[in-house]
Amino acid sequence: MATISLSSTSAADLRADAVVIGVGSSPKGLVLTAGAKAIDAASVGRLATVLASMGATGKAEEVTKLPKSGTVKAGLIVAVGLGEPQGRAGYSAEALRRAAGAATRALAGSRSVAVALPADTVDEVGAVAEGALLGAYSYLRYRTNGSAPPAPVESVTLSSALAGDRGARAAVTRAEVLADAVCFARDLINTPPSDLHPADLAAAAESYGKKAGLTAEILDERALKKGGYGGILAVGQGSENKPRLVKLAWTHPKAKTSIALVGKGITFDSGGLSLKPADAMITMKCDMSGAAAVVAAVCAIAKLKIPVNVTAWAPTAENMPSGTAQRPSDVLKMYSGKTVEVLNTDAEGRLILADALARACEDSPDVVIDAATLTGAAMVALGNRTSAVMGNDDDLRTRIHEVGERTGERMWPMPMPEELRGSLKSSVADIANIGERWGGALSAGIFLREFVADGVKWAHLDIAGPAFNEGEAYGYTPKGGTGVAVRTLVSFAEDVAAGV
Ligand code: BES
Ligand code: MN
Ligand code: ZN
Repeated sequence: MATISLSSTSAADLRADAVVIGVGSSPKGLVLTAGAKAIDAASVGRLATVLASMGATGKAEEVTKLPKSGTVKAGLIVAVGLGEPQGRAGYSAEALRRAAGAATRALAGSRSVAVALPADTVDEVGAVAEGALLGAYSYLRYRTNGSAPPAPVESVTLSSALAGDRGARAAVTRAEVLADAVCFARDLINTPPSDLHPADLAAAAESYGKKAGLTAEILDERALKKGGYGGILAVGQGSENKPRLVKLAWTHPKAKTSIALVGKGITFDSGGLSLKPADAMITMKCDMSGAAAVVAAVCAIAKLKIPVNVTAWAPTAENMPSGTAQRPSDVLKMYSGKTVEVLNTDAEGRLILADALARACEDSPDVVIDAATLTGAAMVALGNRTSAVMGNDDDLRTRIHEVGERTGERMWPMPMPEELRGSLKSSVADIANIGERWGGALSAGIFLREFVADGVKWAHLDIAGPAFNEGEAYGYTPKGGTGVAVRTLVSFAEDVAAGV
């Protein structure tokens, strides 16, 4: 990850390979923000006219590069669009994050970048820092010389009048912790499934967790058998690479609330004997994005010393077809004691989550939140950039939706209509693992609800769409693993700790 520092030096005097300035759009055309005006004054002037003549309009994430001129110290001037300002409040946190991210992304190959986007409040400082760091990411582990795209930006200097302010410094530290966590999740998601078996995911979680000061516990196949984790074992039994259940715990002496996080960790989802078509399998290394998100989130929460107790659970398995794989019509005895008839081995996520949710509830947390790339149906309903949020508590569901609006990770409330429970009926077991075709994301949620203990508030995030970006990079979001849900889970924990 790139390093970041705050500086009170004005945009024109910052020494860096490039200086980033913000331009907005308005009905009257392009508008310069304060940082852009400082560059304008130090260079030849008429910056707005020059930019406009190059086709710049100030629309969101538009990047225009100019050679330096006048007394500007940086080697390159980069104008990034912020879109239309939102009245007096100026630009939204998300507009700043995206602009900063688009700029650092476009500057891959440069080492040092000075950022002079609007940063006059602590929130703005945080947003610009977060976006700049999240945009300075690319996954290069498997690139050999010659094929590698330009390396991400190494160091960011953020120009702000608040450089000496404690709150601003804390906002930058928070952005660093969040970006490190998100990039950790992205790296795990992008790792090919041949190099990230369940045991590797568990080991990566443990080592990232230990660095954050967490206690870690990993149940291996033997321990899972002893514990009666029928769902996790069944999904993992077709693979040579045996399943695990990872537990990471953060406790704070002043905590008043406890949160359990549960993340789906399928390191590769072939579908099992209910095999996926070839094309549908290509992105299925992303099927551990929920596990990556909850592990990254609990570590960030610990590093930020948020006064709330958080336990992250990551059930992890590889869903493969083989002579030892579970079969459609098998009946499983789950950790909770309930029985499940497996009618489709590709509906495997809910099986591993069911065991982990039941285990998480044994500790009587106040809130349980799970995150999972659970259903293609969630993508049909909401597209690639919006997660679904369901749960057994309307207030919790609303709060998560609101936190998502703040973090830029949109999560849309979805119902769990009672009439769909009927479609999960099994003729031999307590419940079947698939329901009717319509509303597939919702029946998956209804299945999970059966494994959440009474009285525990629970929210379920179906992140199937946003977890993996198959399209082009945009804003601060790269291609491939996105690390979605990490920032929302951390922000939710902050809200809980603050009594919101
Ligand atoms: N991992 C998939 C869901 C998925 C699909 C995630 C596309 C990301 C992108 C999940 O395990 C799955 O296969 N779900 C099935 C459920 C069905 C068999 C009821 C699906 O959505 O088709
Ligand atoms: Mn599946
Ligand atoms: Zn899956």
